[in-house]
Amino acid sequence: MKHYLQFKDLRAEEYAYLFERARIIKKRFKNYEKYHPLADRTLAMIFEKASTRTRVSFEAGMYQMGGSVVHLTTGDSQLGRAEPVEDSARVISRMCDLVMIRTYEQAKLAAFAAHSRVPVINGLTNEFHPCQILADILTYIEHRSSIQGKVVAWVGDGNNMANTWLQAAEILGFTVHVSTPGGYEVDPQLAGISNMGCWKVFKDPLDACRGADLVTTDVWTSMGYEAENEARRKAFADWCVDAEMMAAARPDALFMHCLPAHRGEEVSAEVIDGPQSVVWDEAENRLHVQKGLMEYLLLGRIG
Ligand code: CP
Ligand code: NVA
Repeated sequence: MKHYLQFKDLRAEEYAYLFERARIIKKRFKNYEKYHPLADRTLAMIFEKASTRTRVSFEAGMYQMGGSVVHLTTGDSQLGRAEPVEDSARVISRMCDLVMIRTYEQAKLAAFAAHSRVPVINGLTNEFHPCQILADILTYIEHRSSIQGKVVAWVGDGNNMANTWLQAAEILGFTVHVSTPGGYEVDPQLAGISNMGCWKVFKDPLDACRGADLVTTDVWTSMGYEAENEARRKAFADWCVDAEMMAAARPDALFMHCLPAHRGEEVSAEVIDGPQSVVWDEAENRLHVQKGLMEYLLLGRIG
């Protein structure tokens, strides 16, 4: 049994399989072909933080593959009344075939997985957001080609998305140019990477964007860090992806953002709504690639 708790839980050849599977599943979906490999399977989705894309993509995806879902939040389950996560895992995993969790500490997700009888998927933690990077790389492949050898510029917070990009770079063989304000740097140990050659740090975000194939950013304040909002607004003021930064990247560079976005903060409206932005494809691809992931975790390789 496999869990998907962080990007490095799968190997490069498993990613190659998953991206190809996502392509096939997406094509069938676009052609209205019925595909129900997960009939009679149930996905439990546990949300301890808000969500639009993750909820819709997992829920719609499971139904479209013939399965069903149970949606739990902290407020409407015993999770919010301090039932131990280990006990919750033992119970939920006796009733469901697969579990997706969005929570705070990665350690809580890991504790759930350690006591689960069924595969567990990370739907975002403070440390990682692997399903989003899966969708981002599928989007890059669709618009360009393999991401191997390419340069991704990360402009902004050294957060869950940044950490996951670094893990992906290590596994799939590309480089991340990271520029964060002082005090918000990526911590390679927390990010769980050992190959220091897969990323470079830049003080100036414009320098990070020079020659990049893909420029990407995220909110200045992630969920759970709202108390730091004011300090972050000041610290991140120069970390707004604008037309000048996109002009420093390669002429064919793409812009990505996991969404939700704040126009005028981490990205200008001109960039996110402009011709280099692929954010809507990126969001849609959550659906297709996670269907591939759920199929892989439950049924293994097809064909
Ligand atoms: N990108 C992403 O995970 O979006 P949601 O918070 O809406 O799920
Ligand atoms: N870094 C953001 C991503 C939201 C999808 C957060 O954790 O809130």
